[in-house]
Amino acid sequence: MMSSEHIRVDLLSFRIDTPRLTLRPITQSDAGVIQVLADDAEIARNTLQIPHPYPPGEASKWIERAILAASAGKILTLVLTAKPATLADGIPADTALGTLSLGFDWPNSRGELGYWLGTAYHGRGMMTEAVTALVRDSFDRLGLARVFAQVFSGNRASQRVLEKAGFRHEGTLRRHIRKDGAWKDLHVYGCLCDEWRVSKDKKLSV
Ligand SMILES: CC(C)(COP(=O)(O)OP(=O)(O)OC[C@H]1O[C@@H](n2cnc3c(N)ncnc32)[C@H](O)[C@@H]1OP(=O)(O)O)[C@@H](O)C(=O)NCCC(=O)NCCS
Repeated sequence: MMSSEHIRVDLLSFRIDTPRLTLRPITQSDAGVIQVLADDAEIARNTLQIPHPYPPGEASKWIERAILAASAGKILTLVLTAKPATLADGIPADTALGTLSLGFDWPNSRGELGYWLGTAYHGRGMMTEAVTALVRDSFDRLGLARVFAQVFSGNRASQRVLEKAGFRHEGTLRRHIRKDGAWKDLHVYGCLCDEWRVSKDKKLSV
């Protein structure tokens, strides 16, 4: 159930600009690039919903579902793109480099965050920049009280992204997922609006 008390923004036109990046709603024009980037064992290994090998046509089907879910106010799916001239080292401007999604539980003012980035673009601080901005807007523009994410044990890069964006490790669900025939523990990370505001104010006052 979505409530107009909570959501004040059309998810199909939701955009975020950061110093180096633009996060914009996914469209069918992103299907070709997403099809290639998502067909990656490293990404599949660390995510729940991305199969490997990535079947032909899967990106287009996923984007169709994402657009429907955004229309219904259930899930926001954004592509991460680089701004022209801000990442001059061979990174294509305005092209999808990865995706972020925020699934809503409106009655509880809660959003579950998920993300992945094409492996060629790892290690440049891009996902930290994107997640930090999306969390800020989850509180400031979407009125959420809590954002959380679930990370497989061993995925230190994702844990670092969340820690740098202001999340706390809240607990570990042991042997919560069976993936590729092996049990995985799942770390839960959460960020509360109140705590986030206090820490932001502290940083501004230093
Ligand atoms: C997780 C992911 C999005 C990170 O994107 P990114 O843009 O490379 O992340 P950033 O550059 O902003 O930050 C990565 C941090 O992890 C650290 N890191 C990267 N690989 C690491 C590793 N193998 N072990 C420990 N730390 C690692 C980096 O050093 C950096 O932390 P630091 O700034 O403290 O040094 C990317 O690795 C990815 O798409 N992985 C596959 C899919 C996935 O894991 N999605 C998340 C599911 S919860």
